[in-house]
Amino acid sequence: MKSDIQCLISAGPTREWIDPVRFISNPSSGKMGYALAQAAQKRGIEVTLVSGPVNLKVPDGVRSIMVETAQEMNDAMQALFEKADVTIMAAAVCDHRPQSKHGHKLKKNQHPSYIKLEANPDILESLGRRKKSSQILVGFAAETENHLVNAMTKIHNKNLDWIALNDVSRKGLGFQSDFNAITMLSKDEETVILDRDTKLVIASRILKLLFK
Ligand code: CTP
Repeated sequence: MKSDIQCLISAGPTREWIDPVRFISNPSSGKMGYALAQAAQKRGIEVTLVSGPVNLKVPDGVRSIMVETAQEMNDAMQALFEKADVTIMAAAVCDHRPQSKHGHKLKKNQHPSYIKLEANPDILESLGRRKKSSQILVGFAAETENHLVNAMTKIHNKNLDWIALNDVSRKGLGFQSDFNAITMLSKDEETVILDRDTKLVIASRILKLLFK
């Protein structure tokens, strides 16, 4: 049964092009965001998935918008945000992009000695600024040190309701893996530990928490 609840989820990495055959990116597989989309759809929620380039099938019944760059992801998220009751930013957005994309493939003997970067928009932060009190906004925090402090800082700086804290230094979890272990932190400092399990089980637990 479909509910009236609209859920907007971002997933996967972004690609920041250097020239037509080279880009800067990160190892995100998109599995966590796709698992969230699948679990939300199973609950009867209307889901829109904004996805960077991944090798995954969009779950049945989920509307998808495919993007490549952080700027394209930003455009899609900004356009869809107003109608979303719950927004989950699971994408691993590249913080920087090359200042300019070369129009032609750089030949071996033309390689620059450095690539000048500029900042991408912080999508989640700008959604946090637009958020109405009726909307729930959830971010992810990929941390390797000072986990709790860094995650709580992100909750405050980005005006989030919840953050899913991922310790990306733990072996066999997170990036690329089918498994994850997450600590959910709320703006009111509620802490819920989701022990190691498949990303689909973790996704269902996150949604149970958001829709309790
Ligand atoms: N995020 C975003 N836009 C960016 C960078 C990150 O929307 N340009 C979102 C991510 O999708 C995630 C959250 O912000 O939900 C935190 O991302 P993370 O990489 O952990 O942190 P950053 O904000 O990039 O900060 P830092 O790299 O300093 O840890």
